[in-house]
Amino acid sequence: MKFTIVGAGAIGRLWGCKLAEKHQVQFWTRDSTATTLSVDFTPLDSGQELKTYHFDTNNTVQLKAANCVLITVKAFQVQQAITDITPFLSPGIPVIIMHNGMGSQQLALQLLPDNPLLYATTAQGAFRADNLLLNHTGLGQTWIGALNPAGTAYKHLATLLDQVLAPCQWHDDINTPLWQKLAINCAINPLTAIHQCRNGALAKPEFDSQLDQICNEVALVMTAEGYPTRGSNLRNLANKVIRATAENFSSMNQDICQQRTTEIDYITGYLIARAEAHQIQVPVNTRVWQQIKQLEQNYNDQ
Ligand code: PAF
Repeated sequence: MKFTIVGAGAIGRLWGCKLAEKHQVQFWTRDSTATTLSVDFTPLDSGQELKTYHFDTNNTVQLKAANCVLITVKAFQVQQAITDITPFLSPGIPVIIMHNGMGSQQLALQLLPDNPLLYATTAQGAFRADNLLLNHTGLGQTWIGALNPAGTAYKHLATLLDQVLAPCQWHDDINTPLWQKLAINCAINPLTAIHQCRNGALAKPEFDSQLDQICNEVALVMTAEGYPTRGSNLRNLANKVIRATAENFSSMNQDICQQRTTEIDYITGYLIARAEAHQIQVPVNTRVWQQIKQLEQNYNDQ
């Protein structure tokens, strides 16, 4: 199959290298003058050797001929990414959107009325050590599901993705795994960014009460949204990820450290917006949202 991957961040590059083993892959990047992209890929299994992949980029002919487009930009870049590719995107071509957080779905549905639309969420870990080097840092579950009726015809894409980077499964209601991932991100991302620590540091007792409260608030909102759960269930999920990714720096930790816009408005911010819609108080999440916004505002002062 012919893939165009929009966004050359760590997760986009990871899927690019894996898909390239069996399929034709090009990247679509923000730098529209770039025509190639090279990635030195270090596999998870230390026994396997580093391999260099070379990709074409920003080739409109390849985008027009793509059988599938995978958008891996951050949530706040989705609108721009779709606008950039729309002139070259053939109607009927499935588009998969994969990012941390929620809240871009409505816009994507509006901007892509003629394409089967799918969303995906992944717990795969990848880290860009520099411009060239990409480390695969952790195996994790990927879920994919349809966002519009046309997307339901593309269940086989779950099998295709599973063949190149397992485990990947289809979900009939993609909002279920999206909410679960949102809960994990609400717990881990702001705290690791505020305290500039690795994910594993959140296992310390000093974070217990704040993590419990964050998870309890998320559970109230999820239940009101039609995804009933308990704070303790979400806390267990978050604990598993904290342990499994103990050595990693979360994406928000890295964004704050490198003074980039974070995904807070699509993670905790989305939770707060849905809480408001249901008139639910989420004071602990609101406090960490404010702290991250403050840290972002401080960028300009330095
Ligand atoms: O955003 C991230 O870094 C990841 O989604 C997660 C699961 C928090 C692990 O670091």
